[in-house]
Amino acid sequence: MAKFYFLLCSILVLFAISEARNAPSIATINDSPSNLTKIYTKICDPQRFNDLGLDMDDFSYCDSSLSYGVRVKDLIDRMTLTEKVQQIGDTAYGVPRIGLAKYEWWSEALHGVSNVGQWNSKATFFDDIVPGATSFPCPITTTASFNQTLWKTIGQAVSNEARAMYNLGHAGLTFWSPNINVVRDPRWGRTIETPGEDPFVVGTYAANYVRGLQDVEGHESTDDPNSRPIKVAACCKHYAAYDVDSWLGVDRTSYDALVTEQDMLETFQKPFEMCVKEGDVMSVMCSYNNINGIPACADRKLLKDTLRGEWDLHGYIVSDCLDLDCGNYFTNYADKAVIQGKISEKDIDEALKNLYIVLMRLGFFDGSSKYESLGKQDVCSDENIELATQAAREGMVLLKNINGTLPLNAEEIKTIAVVGPHANATTAMIGNYAGIPCKYTSPLDGFSKYAEVKYATGCADVMCKNASLIFPAMQAAKNAHATVIVAGIDLSIEAESRDRIDLLLPGYQAQLITQVAQVAKGPVILVIMSGGGVDISFARDSDNVKGIVWAGYPGEEGGRAIADVIFGKHNPGGRLPLTWHEGSYVDMLPMTSMSLRPVDSLGYPGRTYKFFNGSTVFPFGSGLSYTTFAYSLTSADKNLNIQLNKFQHCRDLNYTDDTFKPPCPAILTSDLQCDDNNLVFEVKVSNTGTVDGSEVVMVYWVPPKGIVEGPIKQVIGFQKVFLPAGGSQKVKFQLNACKSFGLVNYRGYHLLPSGGHSIMIGDNLLSFAVGVKFQLA
Ligand SMILES: *[C@@H]1O[C@H](CO)[C@@H](O)[C@H](O)[C@H]1NC(C)=O
Ligand SMILES: *[C@@H]1O[C@H](CO)[C@@H](O)[C@H](O)[C@H]1NC(C)=O
Ligand SMILES: *[C@@H]1O[C@H](CO)[C@@H](O)[C@H](O)[C@H]1NC(C)=O
Ligand SMILES: *[C@@H]1O[C@H](CO)[C@@H](O)[C@H](O)[C@H]1NC(C)=O
Ligand SMILES: *[C@@H]1O[C@H](CO)[C@@H](O)[C@H](O)[C@H]1NC(C)=O
Ligand SMILES: *[C@@H]1O[C@H](CO)[C@@H](O)[C@H](O)[C@H]1NC(C)=O
Ligand SMILES: *[C@@H]1O[C@H](CO)[C@@H](O)[C@H](O)[C@H]1NC(C)=O
Repeated sequence: MAKFYFLLCSILVLFAISEARNAPSIATINDSPSNLTKIYTKICDPQRFNDLGLDMDDFSYCDSSLSYGVRVKDLIDRMTLTEKVQQIGDTAYGVPRIGLAKYEWWSEALHGVSNVGQWNSKATFFDDIVPGATSFPCPITTTASFNQTLWKTIGQAVSNEARAMYNLGHAGLTFWSPNINVVRDPRWGRTIETPGEDPFVVGTYAANYVRGLQDVEGHESTDDPNSRPIKVAACCKHYAAYDVDSWLGVDRTSYDALVTEQDMLETFQKPFEMCVKEGDVMSVMCSYNNINGIPACADRKLLKDTLRGEWDLHGYIVSDCLDLDCGNYFTNYADKAVIQGKISEKDIDEALKNLYIVLMRLGFFDGSSKYESLGKQDVCSDENIELATQAAREGMVLLKNINGTLPLNAEEIKTIAVVGPHANATTAMIGNYAGIPCKYTSPLDGFSKYAEVKYATGCADVMCKNASLIFPAMQAAKNAHATVIVAGIDLSIEAESRDRIDLLLPGYQAQLITQVAQVAKGPVILVIMSGGGVDISFARDSDNVKGIVWAGYPGEEGGRAIADVIFGKHNPGGRLPLTWHEGSYVDMLPMTSMSLRPVDSLGYPGRTYKFFNGSTVFPFGSGLSYTTFAYSLTSADKNLNIQLNKFQHCRDLNYTDDTFKPPCPAILTSDLQCDDNNLVFEVKVSNTGTVDGSEVVMVYWVPPKGIVEGPIKQVIGFQKVFLPAGGSQKVKFQLNACKSFGLVNYRGYHLLPSGGHSIMIGDNLLSFAVGVKFQLA
């Protein structure tokens, strides 16, 4: 019944399964699949209708002088019920009788055009004509750059490649990316695909990447959002409260996430709200799990009231299958369901309308003159490969650098030992939801540009099940001027359908690091590849390990970026987008406890930097540089006095101690007219060191003392600036106090508390108070 309930929600339903299977076929409009000589890039081509023995003039849906609404209605009205239901699976079979071509909805572009997708008829594939596409770093690494322009620029580069591949019949136009679930628990296998643990950062990444993929220059906004042309359609997934894949027998397809309204609004829905409102995304995918007993894909409040209603989605909703009968369930049975009165044909029409409007906006019917010239030369272009390298460099996070050991000096380091299971990493660097990259630059390749490399794996693979290969790695380290150990994890430890059981390095990896570091002749640098955090306290605390760099999963050019950072060609400026917890954290609470706040009754600690107050390996936001920065406050609004009228009632807030409680603790933000720029301040950032570098100006809100439900702190803004040595720059923030200082209470109200708020830059590099006062009428 639930299956049909969500058609009642008048949403479009598509099926997806997440495992890639191989069997490519031609993607772009091709009415007789055996004949690959003729590929059309649009439906409404008179020649194409001619080929089908039809006259295009007979079909109003091809009349571009009419509105999309009228044309789509014409198209749907021509279909029989059986034909209609054939179009609501991820393979829309088309209706040759009326000139409608088949369309494969499922393509992926998480960090480059990917060939992951439908198993029997892939929309996107590689072959001799298009052998590969640029594989950018995985999102967790790109996020670490904290560079919003970069996030958008990557989206633009990916959509150029996608459009070029579409023109060549090698890709669809609808991509089910990005993955914007918040990393609530450090064990989650899909951390690699995401922008980390902070809802605001995740939402900001989503909006930028989506705009990069979707926006057609000059059409970023319009009065009629349902006709705004788009380049390729993105999809924010998986809505919502999804971050358990497979953990100790708990499976995502049957998991019932028990979530409070407070966590729902503040954490799980927040990035989706930003994706829809700020990114104007074309599609949202609902998630596998149930939320408080209701399948996410059948939750009327979540889908219809919130997503379509409150947030005003202009696009379609797609289901992720396994909580449904995947395969051909709908295309096989939805017509019978209509006949039996379980769903109405009108609802199917509504779903089709949402679908075909999207395809019209993509130019699937009329073409897109702007992108028609894109071709083979635009895929894996030098420019895009360079962008992938830059993204990897910007995503590198320097976590330790004793006595300024790094950067290494290429004049002095003539031989370098490059050891560890990832020393010659290739496929590991591109993670999951990847395509075939243009090429790889492994760490070995990268370092060999700087010095003579002595290579030893130290472990047979990431699992490192025995110690037999450690000795040769020690020998290499003994004989080199410097040693780089490239260790970490890969998809055999963290992946879709594979949550982690611990946060440690697998097998004998820790022993490898310790023993190599003990005997090495020169300085030892540890490079970690991973999506989630790894407990490497032993290396952090060892005087033998002079430097630590987190490389994430840095994409096809990762090895070049790592070497460039270690030899100082690039000064690192990335920051951790998630807390690196100690190994013991996972013993304190089960993965299935959804609460972000501590659960005192069960002794569970809080989650993410916002609510966890214990010790960590490296906190959220960590990241060093080869230079130093200083901050000063140049201007700030330090008071916000709000005159209340008689309709604005004070709301109570729970305080740890009532003596902290102001007379009017809070006001509903919906009762306040909060301007977008009612919280303005400017800081001067100076590069006080001797090398050029980039700094992430990370702005946190610290709520007034004693508010029970408030976070410890929370990111409310960030900007990245490049500063030459000795240079400085003023950085201005224009925020909205209702959003930045607002909290959601346990009853689900958005409130602005009064009292002494603080704004803190970085790890308390600078902080100042902002008083919020309500003056009663
Ligand atoms: C394929 O289509 C083209 C153009 O429509 C036609 O000229 C050609 O004969 C067809 N080839 C085959 C093998 O059907
Ligand atoms: C951010 O990324 C953009 C686009 O790639 C780049 O031009 C810019 O230099 C980067 N900014 C910083 C501060 O690194
Ligand atoms: C590094 O990996 C590549 C790709 O797997 C392989 O061709 C090459 O031989 C490896 N290099 C060494 C030195 O083992
Ligand atoms: C240890 O690993 C090496 C290299 O993979 C293998 O040759 C050897 O048989 C393994 N030894 C044991 C005891 O498993
Ligand atoms: C850092 O440098 C100081 C001064 O040269 C030295 O005493 C100390 O041992 C060094 N620390 C490490 C961990 O190498
Ligand atoms: C840290 O959080 C725990 C709940 O997880 C709480 O019991 C404890 O008092 C907090 N400690 C501090 C210093 O705030
Ligand atoms: C806040 O206080 C109310 C009234 O005392 C109580 O019912 C509620 O559980 C408290 N909420 C929290 C989150 O402590």
